[in-house]
Amino acid sequence: MPATTGGAEVPAFRLEVAADGHATLTFDLPERKANIFTRQVLAELEALTAELAERRDLASLTLVSAKPGIFIAGADVEEIAHVTDPAVAAEGSRYGHRIFAAWEALPFPTVAAVRGTCVGGGTELALACTAIVVSDRPDLRIGLPEVQLGIVPGWGGCVRLPRRIGLTAALELILQGKTVSGERAFRLGLADALLPDAGFERHAAAFARAAGGPRRRKRRRSLGTLLLEANPLGRALVCRLAKRQTRRLTKGRYPAPLRAVDVVAAGLRRGPTAGFEAEARAIGELAISPVAKHLIHVFGLIEQSKKDGDGAASPAIEVLRPAVVGAGVMGGGIAALIAEQTDLPVRVKDVRPEALGVALAHAAELFRKRAQRRRWKRHQLRNRLALIQPTLEDSGLASCDFVVEAIVERLEVKQQVFAELDRRAPATAILASNTSSLSIDAIGARTARPERVVGMHFFNPVDKMPLVEVVLGTRTGAETARAVAAFARRLGKTPIVVREGPGFLVNRLLAFYSAEALWLLDEGHEVEAIDGAMLEWGMPMGPLRLADEVGLDVSAHVGEILHAAFGERLPFPAWLDRLAGSGRLGVKSGKGIYRYQGRKTLGVDPALYAEIGVRAGGRSAAAPGELAERMVLPMVNEAARCLEEGIVSGPGPLDLAMIFGTGFPPFRGGLCRWADESGPREIVARLERLAAAIGARFAPAPALRAVAERGGFYAGG
Ligand code: NAI
Repeated sequence: MPATTGGAEVPAFRLEVAADGHATLTFDLPERKANIFTRQVLAELEALTAELAERRDLASLTLVSAKPGIFIAGADVEEIAHVTDPAVAAEGSRYGHRIFAAWEALPFPTVAAVRGTCVGGGTELALACTAIVVSDRPDLRIGLPEVQLGIVPGWGGCVRLPRRIGLTAALELILQGKTVSGERAFRLGLADALLPDAGFERHAAAFARAAGGPRRRKRRRSLGTLLLEANPLGRALVCRLAKRQTRRLTKGRYPAPLRAVDVVAAGLRRGPTAGFEAEARAIGELAISPVAKHLIHVFGLIEQSKKDGDGAASPAIEVLRPAVVGAGVMGGGIAALIAEQTDLPVRVKDVRPEALGVALAHAAELFRKRAQRRRWKRHQLRNRLALIQPTLEDSGLASCDFVVEAIVERLEVKQQVFAELDRRAPATAILASNTSSLSIDAIGARTARPERVVGMHFFNPVDKMPLVEVVLGTRTGAETARAVAAFARRLGKTPIVVREGPGFLVNRLLAFYSAEALWLLDEGHEVEAIDGAMLEWGMPMGPLRLADEVGLDVSAHVGEILHAAFGERLPFPAWLDRLAGSGRLGVKSGKGIYRYQGRKTLGVDPALYAEIGVRAGGRSAAAPGELAERMVLPMVNEAARCLEEGIVSGPGPLDLAMIFGTGFPPFRGGLCRWADESGPREIVARLERLAAAIGARFAPAPALRAVAERGGFYAGG
């Protein structure tokens, strides 16, 4: 049934037929930025397909999208989020199978003309077309990312993709949920032609009209792959290896990819019909599982964060002439990121020429790696590097509209630099600081533009960590915050707006977690047991290993600042300072809690326990779950306080910040979501027990009690 607006029915599909019998079917879902398959759209497609099957006047058809940059964004995730009955979920899959099978059987060649994002159900419809052509625009992505939502491709993708591109390549795409560029899709044989973006629809129509119908591009596969995939034994071996690797990567936390291997194997071994049925059964089980619900929740948070700021009366101020002050670890990384992602020239200022040299060398190394992966030509690599303009002078700042400062973490020095920036940069320029602990108000105190002073807190390493905290001082203007968030998005990062306060959001929560790991060590629990408990819980790295990574000196320093702010709520063992003082700095000094050779961990340093004055393994082994709880619950307690203080606007952004800033396991849906699922009342009770047994630092915050009263962090919102 088509959508209705103001009483008039607006269909999602529009069919135009040329005199020679070539049809163009345009997908243009009314009132949406993206084409998606809602129940309603599917019903319309079903009816339309039945009509098309009866037409004898059509010679060929191209399926195109009217949405800029998007072909089809897949199924309606909202509908999957709400399904709770396995039979309903499985039926949703079978419904898609029926429609796409009817589409596949149309009596004329159909060509999916993909000129933008094509994922999930979009790719599955494309696979049911006679041919797929893609445009060469660089931002085009095509793939089957369903496993990222905790499900498998459920409308024929597990069956049709391996038949089209071979088992090995199909498993790689499906199991990792990766999307690929148009060029890569063409090389894989997923696309039959790679066509110029200019005049794309014309080229696609010509392709469809071509005499004898479109010919499938021959896939280029290595002899080894061909031999392996040519027989059932070889295919079984490929599936077994894929499963083993998936088990290793997912540690059994994410059931969808493993299940996908079985579904793909069933489709190849027992034929398409059995494959489709295996898909439907898998969807029935997976779509209602907690992991899928959590992953879909996280997907919703990500989508929301992309949309924030949409709907504002005016677009965000656009950064055109950026500059970075301080070319150290962070500043150098930020400058490289700007050059890589925006193509804008970026001035980088430092007081030490050698710092500029190192920053440029790092950028060159990074770009070289990117060039290999993205197949940049040599001149593209050179041009990219030339965007970074090193300088020891302040003079060029007069033409900048955005400066991000990343110099030493000393208030006095930052204040001086900001006063100087204020004098030199145009009055409208935004001045951002990458400070990790200082007050934005204080940093901007000596400027005449406090409304344009803001925090832009990147995480280390800049090129890998997806989060940016946009830190608001009390006088930071809304336009400034929007501009920084928009710029962060342009840099490929996820911005989360936070209010200033010690540790902002992520480092504050992380401090409560790390401190508890150190206290467990202090009690005589073994390093491996502590880190192991959190790895088992799903964190990408144990907290003690992370402390080594950050540097025990830096950890001790941050600990001191945050202890000063939070007092007895956040104590640290006295030996932390001593460790750092004795040259145990962590990875960078070859020795911290662990020992290192370069970046390689050589295991826990046995001398460590004596140095901190405890007996190794002095504690009877505790269950990993118990240890993990001790480290996670203090974060939950503090999260309630952060929300109450308005450090972050809600549990959604908080959860996203923890996932992107600390690697908090997405299969748990986020810190607040995990707490809600565990039962906030139960968490309060557990904290009370810990407070009685161990110390007052565990005492549940009034804010957490209020959360429990309300029924959870997400309750009522
Ligand atoms: P770094 O020591 O590697 O680099 C600082 C650079 O600033 C040095 O090259 C120094 O020569 C330069 N510099 C000092 N005074 C200057 C001035 N007046 N004008 C221009 N350049 C000057 O430090 P890093 O680690 O890059 O940290 C920089 C800032 O980023 C600090 O505020 C830090 O708190 C923050 N930060 C650091 C993170 C990290 O993991 N390293 C993570 C997030 C934020």
